[in-house]
Amino acid sequence: MKKTLTLITAGADAPDPLSVSAYESVGGFKGLKKALTMTPAEIVREVLAAKLLGRGGAAYPAGKKWEQLLKIPRGPKYVVANADEGEPGTFKDRLIMDKVPFGLLEGMAVAGHVFGARNGYVYVRGEYRLIGKKLRAAIETLKAAGRLGENILGSGFSFDVKVVSGAGAYVCGENSALLNSTEGKAGRPRIKPPHLAEVGLFLKPTLVNNVETFACVPSIVAEGGERFLSLGHPEGGGTKLVCLSGRVKNPGVYEIPLGRLTLRELIFDPELGGGMREGDVFNFAHLGGQSGPIAGIAGLDAVYAHSELKKASLAVGSGAIVVMDRSVGILDYLRRVSEFFAGESCGKCVPCREGNGTILRYLKTLEDGEAGPEELRALSLLAETMARASFCGLGQAAPTALESARKIFPEEFEGRVRRPEDAEVREAPHPTKFGDSAATA
Ligand SMILES: Cc1cc2nc3c(=O)[nH]c(=O)nc-3n(C[C@H](O)[C@H](O)[C@H](O)COP(=O)(O)O)c2cc1C
Ligand code: SF4
Repeated sequence: MKKTLTLITAGADAPDPLSVSAYESVGGFKGLKKALTMTPAEIVREVLAAKLLGRGGAAYPAGKKWEQLLKIPRGPKYVVANADEGEPGTFKDRLIMDKVPFGLLEGMAVAGHVFGARNGYVYVRGEYRLIGKKLRAAIETLKAAGRLGENILGSGFSFDVKVVSGAGAYVCGENSALLNSTEGKAGRPRIKPPHLAEVGLFLKPTLVNNVETFACVPSIVAEGGERFLSLGHPEGGGTKLVCLSGRVKNPGVYEIPLGRLTLRELIFDPELGGGMREGDVFNFAHLGGQSGPIAGIAGLDAVYAHSELKKASLAVGSGAIVVMDRSVGILDYLRRVSEFFAGESCGKCVPCREGNGTILRYLKTLEDGEAGPEELRALSLLAETMARASFCGLGQAAPTALESARKIFPEEFEGRVRRPEDAEVREAPHPTKFGDSAATA
């Protein structure tokens, strides 16, 4: 049985990603053409039936989000694609925009039709400058071909898409920060509620979905939600783009059916990751980006699907799978994760602003063998406080890797803790102690 599918990556190997005829030859625009003959409620029903879980990381059901926005009577409404792709180890939205940009734009146009939107935006990660250029060219091509812009396919429906360059901050991927940044404001998260479906871009009702989520929409509409569901897991349909990187033989993006493969197969199957590079031994994998959990050897038998991974305290997240070998120490790795979050915290709220820096300090102390049991307890307390009290998902998810790693490698933490007898040894030659020769000289 073939391990990969080509649902959203159909045509990704075509020599010219901006060829409308090449895209149509693999089923392109079937979804949009059909959508233009359907009512918004009918389309939303298909998205609900597909059980499409948002591909940006939070796995919120897309059908539910679309249903909520459809119920809001006010307009104008906006359609926004989140192409910030800031999660380290994640490079699948880039593949869609680079190789099948029409898939994203077709999905957005379907959404535009559902919500009666006139304008859509793609917020592209600042570092993806060439991708942004390519997307602009793709938009112009589709306008010239009557598949975007005024009076699409003679239906009377008009929908335009603009590309916005991201601000180069991880937090700008958070949907409300992304909208602030699109409006030209500082990319900081907004307080919710009100939800973006009510008060979004320019304070208007707005749909924000990930690039991959939009790219799933054409086939859901063309082939029906039930078929999409049947390709994946009963609780989350379709395929998922996974990004394999780190110490595997075959790093890259793979489109796999949800619920059919274990993590072990993803990493070790010769058709997929191909196993560890010569001489490397598997140590752990980091799933779903820096804000996701760590999987140890025991986690490898978990089935790759949102609900299955959750049972094993793991997550799909953004689809990143970063594989590390035994030469990478977990504490060293976690310190780097922590450095990332301390650097990316926007500073708006105390638990995240102070918490990330403090976790980083404690981890360094632990690595140096200077931490006592009280520091370990403080780490747990900090992680819990951040998860509960941070203003946005960045601070809430920042300690996820640390907390999961502590369960998998308890000895790496407990074994580094300074014992009371170590403290005495270190204290003995303290130069400022009364009676010490160095202090009295
Ligand atoms: C700090 C932070 C960064 C995020 N970065 C991204 C991102 O780069 N791309 C993305 O699609 N979603 C990102 N998200 C999730 C978005 O807030 C939002 O859930 C997503 O765009 C919704 O689309 P979906 O339902 O299709 O996944 C991020 C969330 C947080 C808290
Ligand atoms: S959790 Fe972090 S990134 Fe989010 S608002 Fe608070 S300080 Fe900013």
